[in-house]
Formats: sequence, structure tokens, C-alpha cells
Amino acid sequence: MQLLDGKATAEAIRAELRKAVEERKENGKKIPHLAAVLVGSDGGSLTYVNAKVKACDEIGFQSTLIQYQSDISEEALLHKVNELNNDPDIDGFIVQLPLPDHIDELKVTEAIDPKKDVDGFHPMNLGNMVLSLPGFLPATPAGIMELLKRNNIETSGKNCVIIGRSNIVGTPLSIMLSRNSSPGNCTVTLTHSRTANLPEVVKQADIIIAAIGRPEFVTADMVKDGAVIVDVGTTRVPDATKKRGWALKGDVKFDEVAPKCSFITPVPGGVGPMTIASLMINTLRAMDLNNK
Ligand code: GUN
Repeated sequence: MQLLDGKATAEAIRAELRKAVEERKENGKKIPHLAAVLVGSDGGSLTYVNAKVKACDEIGFQSTLIQYQSDISEEALLHKVNELNNDPDIDGFIVQLPLPDHIDELKVTEAIDPKKDVDGFHPMNLGNMVLSLPGFLPATPAGIMELLKRNNIETSGKNCVIIGRSNIVGTPLSIMLSRNSSPGNCTVTLTHSRTANLPEVVKQADIIIAAIGRPEFVTADMVKDGAVIVDVGTTRVPDATKKRGWALKGDVKFDEVAPKCSFITPVPGGVGPMTIASLMINTLRAMDLNNK
């Protein structure tokens, strides 16, 4: 078994991006500027947004963090989105999800200028992705593709089973892995809560992507010997042995599954750092897409 080390792979990407920033500086070009909007104080979201800002600092991007209380009105949030759309200094921005129940996530996502939508969540960018047209790819699926690519994981002709059909991971990744590209050319099965005989379906997989947010859902009996496993889960579970009182758990029961795999991502240190790296790649790409 070999670890698919997202932390090391993301560090390699950050080094490349640092170099790209230096080159832009030498050529008198604009430094990429990412803004992140966070509503409320959910612990997980706060951690992710802070990690995104920290990654910008490390690479030499500019960043702006905009924080609101959870009772901000939908109208006020949409007003801020519009302001960011029209701010020539901001090259890309994200609104961290989930949003409080009184705010319509789709309405906010659709209000973001697709040319600044570095999360790749806008319907226009998702449509461009389906047609392999230029645009922004959603950060987590793009990060997984990059992780497979940089670690020379063969995907062509492989059976890939994705568990979970979310708009931000499972559904876009099913398209990216099935198209004629490298990585890609997989035969993809997108499974969900209504899938019949899920354990047997997963057992057929050469590549398993676990993205349902249910800690330790994938057990050893569901995994074929030699499978490649990508664990997207990041659930906080109570853990009295930790000072902070919780531990991060993936969707895969790592200790019993890892010995059966050829490659497996750890949690933490697998997909998470790659999501952030992709967001940085998208932010640099925003400069090209917008001719800056
Ligand atoms: N919530 C969970 N993942 C993400 C992400 O990649 N971007 C945003 N904006 N919110 C998220």
C-alpha cells in the first residue's frame, strides 16, 4: 500500500505557483487577488477559509477575507457579491458553503460573475466543464484529478465507483473521470442512497471515490484487493483523546481498508490540501481568462 500524499503534492503545486507569481512580478503584471466570503462561524468552514487565505500568503497571492454574522440578509450578501464582481482588483472570489437556511445558495452562486467564479460552481462553468470548454473546474474534483495525474495513477479503462452524487464532488467528478482525457477514460458508476447492493457494486471498483460524508462508511469487505481509494470525507467526530475534543474522519475505515489497497489518500492530508491547491490554480487561471 502506498499513500496518495495530498499534502506533499499540494506543496509541489504551491512551489510552482510561487514561481509563476515571481515571473508575473518580474514582468510587471498584476498579482492574483482572491477574496473569500464566510457567513457565520461554523468551525469546519472557518478552518477551510483560513487555510485558503494562508495558502494565498504562502504563494504570494493577495487575499481578502470578508466575514459576516449568520443573520446577514440574502440581499446584503448579494450586494457584496455584486461589489466583488465589479471590483477590478479582485480576480476571483468564493462564497464558502454551506450558507444559513434563510439564504438561497443557488441564487448566490448564480450571482457570481462566471469569470470570477474560481470555485467553478456557477452553472455556466459547470456547463463548460461538461462540454470540455474553457472555464473554472470545481476545486475538489479538479484536485483529485491532479492528485491522480501527479502520482501516475492509471485510470484509462478502469472501473471507477464514486459514492455520493453531490453537485460539488460526485456529479462533476463522474464527468471528469469518464471523458476522453488523462486522467480520465474510466468506466464510471455514480452511486447514491438508492443504489441497490452498494457493497457489491463498490467491490467491482478498480478506483473508489468515497464522497458521502459518512465516517468510515467504506469497510474492507467492500474493497477489491489492489484498489485505488480516494477519501473525500472530512467529518468531525467527538474524540476525548484530542485536546480540541474531536478528530477528522474520512468516509473510509482506513486501518482495515489500507492494507488491501494499492494507493489510498489519508484524512487529513489527502484530498483537503488538493482542494485548496486547485483553488489557487483557478485563481492564477483567472488572470489568463480575464487577460490580465
Ligand atoms: N464547502 C465545502 N467545500 C467547498 C468548496 O470547495 N468551496 C466552497 N465555497 N464551499 C465549500
